[in-house]
Amino acid sequence: MDSPSFFDAIVLGAGGAGLMCAGVAGQRGRRVLVIDHNDEPGRKILISGGGRCNFTNLGTAPDRYLSANPHFAVSALKRYTAHDFLALVEAHGIAWHEKTLGQLFCDGSARQIVAMLMAECAKGDVSFRFGAPVSSVDHADGRFRVAAGEIVAEAPALVIATGGPSIPKLGATGFAYDIARQFGLKVVEPRPALVPLTLGGDEALFRSLSGVAAPVEARCAGAGFREAALFTHRGMSGPAILQVSSYWRRGREVAVDFLPQEAPGWLLAAKREQPRARLASLLDRRLPGRLAETLTERIGLTAELANTPDRILSDAERRLADWRFNPSGSEGYAKAEVTAGGIATDGLSSRTMAARKVPGLFAVGEAVDVTGWLGGYNFQWAWASGWAAAQAI
Ligand code: FDA
Repeated sequence: MDSPSFFDAIVLGAGGAGLMCAGVAGQRGRRVLVIDHNDEPGRKILISGGGRCNFTNLGTAPDRYLSANPHFAVSALKRYTAHDFLALVEAHGIAWHEKTLGQLFCDGSARQIVAMLMAECAKGDVSFRFGAPVSSVDHADGRFRVAAGEIVAEAPALVIATGGPSIPKLGATGFAYDIARQFGLKVVEPRPALVPLTLGGDEALFRSLSGVAAPVEARCAGAGFREAALFTHRGMSGPAILQVSSYWRRGREVAVDFLPQEAPGWLLAAKREQPRARLASLLDRRLPGRLAETLTERIGLTAELANTPDRILSDAERRLADWRFNPSGSEGYAKAEVTAGGIATDGLSSRTMAARKVPGLFAVGEAVDVTGWLGGYNFQWAWASGWAAAQAI
């Protein structure tokens, strides 16, 4: 093994947060080494947003993040905003567009974002070591000593930027939590988030709708999202379901409003206006055919509206607006876009991401217990937290 190389900071992980932190710190004159066990940087960036990277969201605000401490993200998000990242994207001549709900994507390819971050790192003379699994991290006399592959490096600052365990086939691990625990930081129980939910038991019937999508409002634990839901061969997915999955825990129900556009009382109004109509035909006009059929069957209302008591119609309307699913589970880390939970924020400074009790130790990005909604929020957290740490190393 070589004798140690010396740096001002070692960044573990060449994802969005690690690259942002390294580039900014390098340009502030710090000698930075980035270590990653993958052979290339930013693998999650490359596959993000269907290959076009939804790199930020113009609606970024702290209430779009989940954390045991909802205030923790405020400082970093305020100091490095979606507009700051957009200015960087534009300075690199990357064409972009707003898709919907403030979500910004590259016109071309997510590769441009990785190339941009690597160019920023090159401006800061950042050194890289890829394909190097970290074998040990020690701390003595105010210096961190990291062994990875055949190299040993030392620095007074160490940045944990190895993300969470979602999508292990891309090289994702729970390594951040091991290092955090090694240094006495607490970890909020990690769990898959932005993940499809599975249906079992009586609700497994809905799996026969695999491939059917509809605009709905999905709700769980006080959060609600009006977007598309998609039935799959294992249960439910689509943006509305992915969003509520972050709030879901085993045993909690997910409520779905299949007709969020209808005003309360619409079914009684329909009875007055079209007394000969049946629920099946009304739903068929408003929802994909197979979904309309399944819901009608489950409600069990076949008579003409005129021959159905108001009370029964009101019950049916309520059920359609608040259909309760009891998911049997989620598709787990193999399919989860992010990991919720992570390194507990109470041990970190919200201004610098520095560990309060271990001088020189920082944690950034998805490794930390801050998880964004779907739609560019997670990258914005990676950029903002990486930038915040870079100001302090
Ligand atoms: P990230 O996981 O990106 O990087 C961690 C790095 O650490 C990796 O390079 C990994 O190889 C390395 N590493 C891990 N363990 C290691 C070890 N033991 N030793 C050395 N290195 C190690 N978000 C968003 O805002 N918009 C979007 O469009 C999408 N799209 C999307 C699609 C898909 C399929 C996924 C899985 C995720 C998204 N996301 C997203 C989420 C987003 O990708 C994620 O939140 C950020 O990439 C997190 O950035 P980090 O840098 O914190 O971790």
